[in-house]
Amino acid sequence: MESPFKGDILKGKVGLLTGGGSGIGYEIAAEMGKHGASIAIMGRRNHVLHSAVSALQSHGIHAIGIEGDVRNKEDCARVIETTIKQFGKLDILVNAAAGNFLVPSEDLSPNGFRTVIDIDAVGTFTMCHEALEHLKNGGMIINISATLHYTATWYQIHVSAAKAAVDSITRSLALEWGTDYGIRVNGIAPGPIYDTTGTSKLVPEKVLLKRKQESALYRMGKKWDIAMAALYLASDAGNYVNGTTLVVDGGIWLSSPRH
Ligand code: HXC
Repeated sequence: MESPFKGDILKGKVGLLTGGGSGIGYEIAAEMGKHGASIAIMGRRNHVLHSAVSALQSHGIHAIGIEGDVRNKEDCARVIETTIKQFGKLDILVNAAAGNFLVPSEDLSPNGFRTVIDIDAVGTFTMCHEALEHLKNGGMIINISATLHYTATWYQIHVSAAKAAVDSITRSLALEWGTDYGIRVNGIAPGPIYDTTGTSKLVPEKVLLKRKQESALYRMGKKWDIAMAALYLASDAGNYVNGTTLVVDGGIWLSSPRH
């Protein structure tokens, strides 16, 4: 679908996206690039980064891929440094890297729980912390969250806890860094997105269909819907939005079946 935004709303900006090689992270990278930003994507798998960068470049986007794991502080620092070396600055940090698998709580080891907290929550904080110095000149942060923890979600105790922490990080940094440095920190909470490998891998087709039938708009989301929310938050249109996590789920999390 064509973007309703002007093509130059992020002209001259530099965006760094963790988890930018695939799924929602890639889609945000592509839309930010198409709207004028230079793009660095970070991910764990070199071949995934490589094809993502080629795809971005085929749209005429200035893009680089840098291998790294957000669980490793040195990787985070190196990726940010490389981005600065390549593009001279950093304006937009998007924390989209996430770990996930479905598992009943009684079968989840503490290390499995910790692994997802490390990727989603600690990884988000580490990237924000390492990027801070570079964001002080009008930079902003978007943390990708979820709606799983607004109620309780089967077999997602680890991700729900991690995303609750991410939302809390978003608010604390928005307060402290918004006040001290004018850095806006916001989140996006996607609902079920049907065109990502993350969702199709994790959620059975019939469950997704049921969610669709129960949703207020009678449809599930696309990665594009999330990317448009990111453009709004990253552009000047979002200049007075700080500390919020924007739910982009068509109203699904608050819905229940019609009686
Ligand atoms: C139970 C599991 C498990 C599984 C891993 N573990 N997979 N436990 N069921 N399926 C446990 C391991 O047993 C181990 O604990 C610990 O987790 C670490 O596992 P490793 O394989 O050593 O870790 P690593 O190689 O670092 O991989 C971490 C990973 C990763 C999180 C499993 O492979 C990953 O990120 N996969 C999926 C990524 C993904 O789908 N992202 C999209 C997110 S979408 P022990 O105790 O044995 O040492 C999203 C949106 C949510 O988040 C909304 C949709 C529902």
